[in-house]
Amino acid sequence: MNPELMEKLAEEIQKVGFKTGQIQGILFPQSTCDIWDQIYNFQAREDDILVATFPKAGTTWMQEIVDLIMLNGDVERSMRAPCFVKVPFIEINPRPLPSVESANAMKSPRLLKTHLPIQLVPPSFWEKNVKVIYVARNAKDCMVSYYHFQRMNKSLPDPGTWEEYFSAYLAGNVPWGSWFDHVIGWWKARDKQQILYVFYEDMIEDPKREIRKVSTFLDKDLTEEVLDTICHHTSFDSMKDNPMANYSVLPSFVFDHSISPFMRKGKVGDWMNHFLVEQNIIFDEEYKKRMEGSRLSFRNKL
Ligand code: A3P
Repeated sequence: MNPELMEKLAEEIQKVGFKTGQIQGILFPQSTCDIWDQIYNFQAREDDILVATFPKAGTTWMQEIVDLIMLNGDVERSMRAPCFVKVPFIEINPRPLPSVESANAMKSPRLLKTHLPIQLVPPSFWEKNVKVIYVARNAKDCMVSYYHFQRMNKSLPDPGTWEEYFSAYLAGNVPWGSWFDHVIGWWKARDKQQILYVFYEDMIEDPKREIRKVSTFLDKDLTEEVLDTICHHTSFDSMKDNPMANYSVLPSFVFDHSISPFMRKGKVGDWMNHFLVEQNIIFDEEYKKRMEGSRLSFRNKL
């Protein structure tokens, strides 16, 4: 990143630190709350594509896949810029990072990212009937991944101990709120809007099948060869080594990969290495209560 941008970013992060605020009872970085009106009034365009997720569900993975689908598998062009520059994160703010303003200035077709729960998505996305790809990941792996991410991401609050984090996550007291409300909210909306609901576990099980599904949804007819190229370039190992996808270009005062790398494990079932037996019982009870009647089911292992 250029030194001027880095300096600005450092200034912003020091200024806002990891303070949080709330929007409709949901926790967000204070910096997001500060410009909420601007975010909510964001003007979507008909040919936008939105990747939506609860944090740590595989957002970056899907961004890279969609970018390559739009580029017919042109790997060189997909490496034109870091993922967070190519794909503005509409509700993030410290300003030097691409968010609303850079999205406004971007030429169409745009690929955008959000972690917003469905009820907070700027209405223009629905007015313009924008295609959305929602990636959902099982709650236990999401929790573990988010815990490590909050440890290394200096613009988010410190997660505290694993025990503390476990309770906070279950209660929805983490940035972007409750995993349960998020996945259920988007699930219920999927037939009313152009939403493709994809599961991280399915992507791990058969990435080519899921990439094909996404390309069909986007009306892109890709050859087997192109699908294979996309599959290869978006594998965990390729992305881990790709500086444009692994966030290594961000300075360590933003993402400290020595605490935990952004491309950490990329597995289904890592929660088993973290959850205590007692925590698993508490979690499963809460899960049963919260998911009852939703007809939404997740795989915690493959
Ligand atoms: P882990 O922390 O479990 O490893 P997000 O992009 O939404 O922040 O999600 C990050 C999570 O997705 C991390 O999970 C990361 O390793 C995983 N991930 C990113 N790219 C991946 C890929 N190509 N294959 C599998 N997992 C991937």
